[in-house]
Formats: sequence, structure tokens, C-alpha cells
Amino acid sequence: MNGVSWRTENPGGAFRVVVTKDLPGKRWLEILAAAGCELHVSGSRDVLPPDEIRRAIGSRCDGAIGQLTEPWGADLFEALRAAGGRAYSNYAVGYDNVRVAEATARGIAVGNTPGVLTETTAEMAVALTFAAARRVVEADAFLRSGKFHGWLPDLFLGKRLFGGTLGIVGAGRIGAAYAKMMAPAHRMSLLYHDERRNRDLERFFQRICPAIAADGQCAIGCHFAESVEEVLERSDVVSLHVPFTDATRHLLNRERLRLMKRDAILVNTSRGPVIDEAALVEHLRENPEFRAGLDVFEREPLLAPGLAELPNAVIVPHVASATVWTRGGMAALAAANVAGVLKGYPVAKALRVEDFIEGPIPGKTPSIVNARELGLREE
Ligand code: DGY
Repeated sequence: MNGVSWRTENPGGAFRVVVTKDLPGKRWLEILAAAGCELHVSGSRDVLPPDEIRRAIGSRCDGAIGQLTEPWGADLFEALRAAGGRAYSNYAVGYDNVRVAEATARGIAVGNTPGVLTETTAEMAVALTFAAARRVVEADAFLRSGKFHGWLPDLFLGKRLFGGTLGIVGAGRIGAAYAKMMAPAHRMSLLYHDERRNRDLERFFQRICPAIAADGQCAIGCHFAESVEEVLERSDVVSLHVPFTDATRHLLNRERLRLMKRDAILVNTSRGPVIDEAALVEHLRENPEFRAGLDVFEREPLLAPGLAELPNAVIVPHVASATVWTRGGMAALAAANVAGVLKGYPVAKALRVEDFIEGPIPGKTPSIVNARELGLREE
């Protein structure tokens, strides 16, 4: 098929499911085989163009597992509906690449993969925070290029975070996990902004703050900020954990970047377009003490001109969820979403990811974002 190779798994299965990229692990294959699905799995490592996906869907296709790099909108959902499809799962927790309303209008369930990447993504945000604050990548390159001629008092001076203010914008699962990893361990006070207060997160800090104070070191706190601006102005580190929507496009623009401390650290593991990347490049150039740790980019896989040359930016290629456990778990959840809808299993009320990644294959569907609109049965 135009140079793209497809392999078939579980030939003869009652349902036909297209998978637009091969996925890690074996559990997802077991889940779909147990549900009686014949799989057509793309062997391509390139982003598949919509035409290629449409061709793979063909005239009969019950479900699909797609990637965040693909535009699942009216065209692809119409192709899936016309082929008899009822289920689609994104292989991601974020689904800004999916026009859910277009799927709903065609009676197609849309799944995503929450829960398995919470801590993994938060860990990468922590790694980027310290890599940026302590100039790890610059120092590594310096050493490898043979420039290290002995210890120096001022070699790669970075920013101490201990006792500072940790800002997060977006306190959902991943933002909250990052806050819990960072703030107590590094005695940082948390300042967070979200559309809604995260009372669970606040209760966590209410329990932990007295213990830290009793420890005799820096007292820490957890404060809700009424505005993004307040977080930007007061924080030493700002980590972004918002979904990408029309409202969050360029949430960090030139004006807001200028509100931040001149030596602040900005971390983004959410979605690239949340930052105006050209404005960030300009800001990093003008403020060498300001640092950024970025996992995601506005026009992936492209980078804004100049970004790759800036020593005060640490950049990694959208790998925050890339651990063996998490990527295998995401595959299992995506498979269970498609299998569950095709088999008519109820949608889990409280998702327990362990139920899907180990043990007997459960007769339920992990996460369907338009379950209510479609009237799918809940557990
Ligand atoms: C997601 O799941 O949304 C991440 O960006 C990829 O793991």
C-alpha cells in the first residue's frame, strides 16, 4: 500500500481493527485477540497521511487505534462510520488531535489512555526542571567536547530550587503528581492556578506541611492563585499542565513571559502550542538566566528557528510518557477501549489501570470521553 507495510494479527477475527502504528508490549494484542479482533497494524514509523489511513480502513472496519500526530476529524470518522466502525481510541491521554463531536455525530466512541502516564510524565517534568536549573545538558556537552580542565569555582552556576516557589498552571492528574514530587522533597511552596481548585491536592499539602515544618527545615505551603499572571510573577519554576484548547493556545505569549522572574525555569510537558515558541526563543535570547525545559513543540517535529541553538533551553522529543511500563500500559488501555466498545462492555466508573495491564482481561472499557453523549452503559 504505497510503500507502507501492514501486518495482520489474529487473522479471521470477527472484528476488523486498524492500528496506525505498531505499539509496545504484548498485552494490547492479547486484549484485542481475546475480543475476537483481526488487526491491521501499520509498520510505518512516519506519520501516516489521512489518505493512507482511509485506505487501510477500506470498506469494512469496526475500530481503529490512532496516534496524536493524526488529524482524526470529519474525514476519517466518516470513513470509519461508512466502513461500519463504532470505536476509536487515541494512543494518548491528550486528544486535541481528535474532533470528538465529529465522532459522536457518527455514533463512534472515542477513547484515551489516562492514568498510566501520570507519574511518568510528571517524572519527565521533574527531570526537565533540574536539567534546566542545573544546566545538565550544557555541562554534559562541555565535558564531552574535552573542555573540562579541572574544577572551577564558577563552572556552570545554576539556580538553586530548594526553598523556592513552585508554580503550576493546570492541576489535573499530571500537574498534581508533579507538584507532589517537587514541592515537599525540595521544600518548595506550591502556587497553582487552574479553572477549578484541586481540593485533593490542597488536602495533601495540609497533611504534609505540618510534618515538614516539624522537621525544622523550610516551611512550605500550597496556595491557589486566582490568575495565571500571579503564578508567573511569583514562581521560581513554572510547569505547564493544561490541555491544549482554543483557550490555552499561546497561554504563554510574549507579554506573559515578561511577567516571569528573569531567572525563572519554564517547563512544558503538555502541548507545544500552549507556548508561543517564537516569543519564547526571543525571551530566552534576551534573558540568558531564564531557562526552559521543553518536551513538546508548537509545530512538531519542527522547532522554532533558533531554539535548538539556545544553551538555556533543554529540549527532548515529546518523550515524557516514554517508559516501557507506560507505553505498554497506554497500548493496553487503547486496545481495551476499542475491544470494550465492540464487545459492549460497560465503561469503568473509576479507572484502575492495573485491571487492564495485568491479570485476567476485564470485561469493561477503561476510558471513553464521549460515553455519556453516546449513552454507553457505565459500570
Ligand atoms: C499524551 O498521551 O497525550 C502524551 O502527549 C503522549 O504520551
